[in-house]
Amino acid sequence: MNIVILTGAGISAESGLGTFRDKDGLWTRYRIEDVATPDAYARNPALVHEFYNLRRHGLRAAVPNAAHFALADLERRHSGGFLLVTQNVDDLHQRAGSQNVLAMHGQLQNALCAGCGHVWPAPDLMFPEDRCACCDAPLCRPDLVWFGEDVRFLDQIIAATEKADLFALIGTSGNVHPAAGLMELARECGAATVEINLEPSAVASAADRVILGRATEMVPRWVADILSGQSGGSHRMAGPSE
Ligand code: APR
Repeated sequence: MNIVILTGAGISAESGLGTFRDKDGLWTRYRIEDVATPDAYARNPALVHEFYNLRRHGLRAAVPNAAHFALADLERRHSGGFLLVTQNVDDLHQRAGSQNVLAMHGQLQNALCAGCGHVWPAPDLMFPEDRCACCDAPLCRPDLVWFGEDVRFLDQIIAATEKADLFALIGTSGNVHPAAGLMELARECGAATVEINLEPSAVASAADRVILGRATEMVPRWVADILSGQSGGSHRMAGPSE
């Protein structure tokens, strides 16, 4: 059985990292067009660096939670194919022990030279005047995908999604494409689909099964069901008491 998982900010929420579109989410306090686009960086790189310096600081203090660990455990113990696709720029899946992870929106803990493509571990604080150690250009940025840029690994992600027998969407609002289209693609290609979220996502109609509740509670329970061979494809809308 091939398993493909897609995660979003909700899986890291209980590690203390903010989500984007929930009440108090990052996009209620910042405007995407001020901090998360190539134009924003061209206009005001100091503000963009300040935003990501703060987020990097938060990430360094955060640790993986039970949901991250459960997915790492699933990968270790599952005998078929396994791919974890994440929209998250944190590295909590990797720190929990997940191996086959594709971070389609990049990685906050890395820096990227927009001039020569050199990637290195980001320092705590980045500034517009920083210079690349390889080419000396003052074009250092977080190694992230901003709105309007191409997501990473898309061909690989689509190929794995098309071959998935089980596709799970966890902790994402399903508002950002192309990630948001993957569950529908998986279902069209014959996968059983499941969503685990606090609230139904914008793409919940593509889920055979929707499990509502906190990731730290629901994901370990769902993983335990799969590992014990009980992962049914029930069509019920289920709540935390399931
Ligand atoms: N457990 C499970 N789900 C949760 C929890 C939790 N503890 N807390 C929040 N959620 C769910 C919310 O119900 C929501 O569906 O996580 C989702 C968070 O949605 P968003 O804030 O929109 O985050 P995400 O979907 O990951 O955003 C996608 O948007 O701004 C960009 O690049 C950014 O990768 C990000 C992309």
